[in-house]
Amino acid sequence: MIKKILVTGGTGYIGSHTTVELQNNGFEVVIVDNLSNSNAGVIDRIEKITGIRPAFEKVDCADVVAMKKVFAAYPGIKGIIHFAADKAVGESVEKPLKYYRNNIDSLLTLLELMPENGVEGIVFSSSCTVYGQPASEYLPVSEQAPIQPAMSPYGNTKQINEEIIRDAIHSGAPYKSIILRYFNPIGAHPSSKIGELPNGIPQNLVPFLTQAAAGIRKELSVFGNDYSTPDGSCIRDYINVVDLAKAHVTAMNRMLENRSGLPLEYFNLGTGKGLSVLELIHSFEKATGVKVPYKIVGRREGDIEQIWADPRHANEVLGWKAVETIEDTLRSAWNWQNKMPTL
Ligand code: NAD
Ligand code: WQD
Repeated sequence: MIKKILVTGGTGYIGSHTTVELQNNGFEVVIVDNLSNSNAGVIDRIEKITGIRPAFEKVDCADVVAMKKVFAAYPGIKGIIHFAADKAVGESVEKPLKYYRNNIDSLLTLLELMPENGVEGIVFSSSCTVYGQPASEYLPVSEQAPIQPAMSPYGNTKQINEEIIRDAIHSGAPYKSIILRYFNPIGAHPSSKIGELPNGIPQNLVPFLTQAAAGIRKELSVFGNDYSTPDGSCIRDYINVVDLAKAHVTAMNRMLENRSGLPLEYFNLGTGKGLSVLELIHSFEKATGVKVPYKIVGRREGDIEQIWADPRHANEVLGWKAVETIEDTLRSAWNWQNKMPTL
């Protein structure tokens, strides 16, 4: 029997790639997205990749009345993958109430509507940001690393959402959950039909880097080379977005087939390899043959120095492993950058 999955935020960066992988694995997908940070053209491009057009409803998933209509229009939704959120760390500092309202109300609405609609579980998009800057003894970061006070309202909404899910399930809610803590997703689908579409000036490293390499931006600013790392620049765990998408399919199957017998699980999704900003720049140049114009500037406020995942729990228990190389991933980002204007 085909399992129907609701993907909130499904026209966004990670949601669109996950929709492709869900369809490739026989799931029927219903996308809900309010298009606050994406566009409906993504639906056409998902169809071009998989040959299957996902159902799409332009809805704010915090809107209870509208969401009740979605569940009524698409009966039999078995699981939810909840991507929909605002995610810009800097903006969250300027507009905290927007982030608390959107990121928390949207989850509360879904959790309140799940029981009456027979939804069996929810996979939640969390972030390694919940760990803050791990102490050296906790690097690489496992799921047992301590949660630290959030360094932004955005990060706090992720921590609060994790606690809401935990408390709902501990209260006996009739559904399960898997919480996925992503490290740094980068890259694009190999078809170059979908990828990261940042609005305005990219805040994240890789989209800014590819725009600088393409001459759209004068140069990339490297935020600091005076950290206590081998080359002085910050270290992160950059994970291919298709690898990340595939983890959601594995998690959804695990949850709906109740393979663990547990109502709530957490998994860190990373490669297990830390890469500095300067190493990533050099990997891009090696992978594409394209020079990246950059300069070293001062540190960016709020940046942590270094974090990368211990992915053994996801590898051994979830049964998922990141496989794409950083060179192939950066090539996919570059191909997407060059394809984007024609979309
Ligand atoms: P994105 O902005 O590309 O996608 C989010 C989508 O949700 C957008 O299409 C937006 O229009 C939609 N949306 C936002 N609020 C909504 C609402 N109330 N109702 C319906 N749709 C709504 O972001 P992304 O990079 O794909 O991130 C997806 C999820 O993963 C987010 O929850 C984010 O916090 C989390 N995450 C992202 C990263 C990253 O680096 N991209 C890292 C860790 C976690
Ligand atoms: C990576 C590294 C920067 C831009 C953020 C959020 C996190 C998650 C992923 C949502 C850092 C450096 C960046 C630039 C640079 N999002 N950099 N020049 O900060 O690790 O994580 O996105 O969940 O919550 O915090 O990602 O790509 O912004 O930065 O030098 O123009 O690149 O200092 O060391 P980050 P990023």
